[in-house]
Amino acid sequence: MYLDTSDEKVLAGEFGETPQKMMEILVALGEVYEAEKLIPITSAQVSGASYKTIGKWGLAWLQSLDARVAVPTVLNPIGMPQEGWREFGIKEEFARNQALVVEAYRKLGIKLECTCTPYYLNITEYGEHLAWSESSAVAYANSVLGARTNREGGPSALAAAIIGKTPYYGLHIVANRRPQVVVEVEEGTGPRADHWGAIGHVAGKKVGNRIPIFEGIRPNRDQLKALGAAMAATGAVALFHVDKITPEARVFSFKTDDLERVTVSQDEVEALFAETEVEAVAVGCPHCSSAELEELAGLLKGKTTTKPFYIFAAAGVAKKNPDHVAAIERSGARVITDTCMVVSPRMDEFDSIMVDSGKALAYVPGMCGALARIGTRKECVEVATG
Ligand code: F3S
Repeated sequence: MYLDTSDEKVLAGEFGETPQKMMEILVALGEVYEAEKLIPITSAQVSGASYKTIGKWGLAWLQSLDARVAVPTVLNPIGMPQEGWREFGIKEEFARNQALVVEAYRKLGIKLECTCTPYYLNITEYGEHLAWSESSAVAYANSVLGARTNREGGPSALAAAIIGKTPYYGLHIVANRRPQVVVEVEEGTGPRADHWGAIGHVAGKKVGNRIPIFEGIRPNRDQLKALGAAMAATGAVALFHVDKITPEARVFSFKTDDLERVTVSQDEVEALFAETEVEAVAVGCPHCSSAELEELAGLLKGKTTTKPFYIFAAAGVAKKNPDHVAAIERSGARVITDTCMVVSPRMDEFDSIMVDSGKALAYVPGMCGALARIGTRKECVEVATG
């Protein structure tokens, strides 16, 4: 892989040990994927932020680093809200370790926005090269924004953030972004037929790590977010197109005649929905948008929760919507920021959790050791207040 003079100096250790190690990560990655060079990135998003997922070895590695990020960089959700963690039921020892993780990232110059939806807070433009690592954020950035990022691991996103560059391979190259399989969604009636998290859950299993193009559907941006997050979880989708909707499907005329076609049937979607009893309800995977907070505030109007009901969002989005947050919390539901239903140890205390997300449906059993039930947002509110 070609390195310019300044890259070579970093690799030789002239700017310190941490940049040298980070450059070594990028060079190793570049060589594995046969990248011809490094390219500059405009932002990074780093996962591996919850003490629940990285543990003491991850913390020790972060504390050993001594550098500053070269581009605007945000953190994925951590294991607890930065404020009000005690009320959320987080134990002291976990909170102490999580605070050390946050401090280690702060020293590296990373913004402590702690969200999988950084695109609600910072503008990312079509065609920008990024190094993002949370899989739903990667799917959204590539597919809905038309930016370009591979599905980075936490360490490679951090290395790219510190160096300000990433190897030029995979989804950074326009020719690699063409659709590889066509997906048709059988039409149905009722709100479950329009549940994009459930549709994505089924579609992800069928398309695996290929780039799908959907035909004949018209989801809005929040629905595309849910669709991509679920496909990234049950498959390994990092980019999808929706004919006539997503930016690259409008810019390029993709030839799809020779591609395999798969169908998501209404029976397959409906089969995901079960009517089991649950102990808690959690929505906001990926973190809620302003519109989703508004919808939840409306659904909860005049109702009182009868079981724990957590709504996850970026702190910046919650701050922008104080009226919706207040309306939600009047019902007894809680808007929780900086963390989520999968990466917080709080959720491990429940044996069964209802979610509105196709991604959470896939991850809650393994990550929280709980039974997961999926519903529409309206069904989640009904169960939480029933
Ligand atoms: Fe975000 Fe956590 Fe879901 S990181 S996408 S809310 S699993």
